[in-house]
Amino acid sequence: MRILVTGGAGFVGSALCRHLVGEKGISVLNVDKLAYATKPSSLEPIANNPNYRFLKADICERAVMDQALFQFSPNAIIHLAARNNLNRSLGGVDTFINANIVGTYTVLEAARGYWSGLGGAAKDAFRFLQASTDEVYGSLGWDGLFTEQTAYEPSTPYAASKAASDHLVMAWHRTYGFPALISNCCNNYGPYQFPAEPLPSMILNAVDGRPLTIHGDGSYARDWLHVDDHARALLTILEKGQVGERYNVGGRNEHTDLDLAIRICEILNIRYPDKPSHGLLITSVEDPPGKDQRRGIDATKLEHELQWRAQESFESGLEATIDWYLANRDWWEPLRRNARDGRQISPKHDEASSKTSRFEAPCSMDAS
Ligand SMILES: NC(=O)c1ccc[n+]([C@@H]2O[C@H](COP(=O)([O-])OP(=O)(O)OC[C@H]3O[C@@H](n4cnc5c(N)ncnc54)[C@H](O)[C@@H]3O)[C@@H](O)[C@H]2O)c1
Repeated sequence: MRILVTGGAGFVGSALCRHLVGEKGISVLNVDKLAYATKPSSLEPIANNPNYRFLKADICERAVMDQALFQFSPNAIIHLAARNNLNRSLGGVDTFINANIVGTYTVLEAARGYWSGLGGAAKDAFRFLQASTDEVYGSLGWDGLFTEQTAYEPSTPYAASKAASDHLVMAWHRTYGFPALISNCCNNYGPYQFPAEPLPSMILNAVDGRPLTIHGDGSYARDWLHVDDHARALLTILEKGQVGERYNVGGRNEHTDLDLAIRICEILNIRYPDKPSHGLLITSVEDPPGKDQRRGIDATKLEHELQWRAQESFESGLEATIDWYLANRDWWEPLRRNARDGRQISPKHDEASSKTSRFEAPCSMDAS
């Protein structure tokens, strides 16, 4: 099997590439432009694996995508490249529109062109999986869960751009018969997550003795899933899912922001018994506009129809994640510093990024 992964240097994408190449022996071409959130040492475990190739490119460049598909000739594409909901100093809403909508459109058109040119069994077997989010559904009330029938009602520019890209994917399926599927996953946690994201930010602020901020009374609730379980779910959906269907991915681990902050503090109190209780750092700040009150996933369809189960428990997964951040300051500190200053990490200066360049194709790529 040969899978082209877009956005494979990011948090979820690198976990997926490690799973596909490292555990499943699948050939992967990772197409990623190495944007602000990336420090590709997350790919070091597979960087020298002959099944792993890397192409530094922007998914909005149609000619590059065409060439990558033609030369790598994948059986499937898993599309993750997206601009996430992050620090505004790293870019405005136009970056969501470009990466998430124009980028998905470009990947879809390149993929449709490639798929149209395949013959017989290869054409029948080809799949396109769009990795989307539960943010497209908007907010739940105090009870109930999102199912695959829940209408899209996005609250933020990021969620709206992901919803738009999901609609493009389904329209390509309905109009052209393009063999696409969609996954909608809840919040992920685990190693290598960009330090400005909410969960690492809580951990690292607490470690540094800074205020551990929660919005309002901390009652905003999210479902949490370990990133490795998300990676396993993506491969399961790709291999066993029905074309034209969507699958919710969730951990049955709903926690409020306050609950999460308290759990993090409890673990850090054990790791640093000599420090004052980390709980003293929990500070309430103003509610942000557009924040969904509650999101929770019903993953019954994925569990029953495709026999996927989350393997990591939230308790042990959170503890392991905190320990990873404590042990890997050299990974997150430059990213955190630059995010705070509104600067980007230059991948060219990141030694690890060049080690991942293995795609021997005459298109735009990371040299060396
Ligand atoms: N992190 C989560 O909790 C979560 C949950 C559900 C779904 N998802 C989905 O998973 C995907 C990845 O999320 P993530 O958290 O890993 O984000 P991330 O920011 O860590 O990774 C995104 C990757 O995409 C790349 N990228 C962005 N724009 C690009 C472009 N124009 N061309 C090429 N590469 C580009 C970036 O360089 C980065 O490596 C997204 O589509 C997101 O919607 C994430």
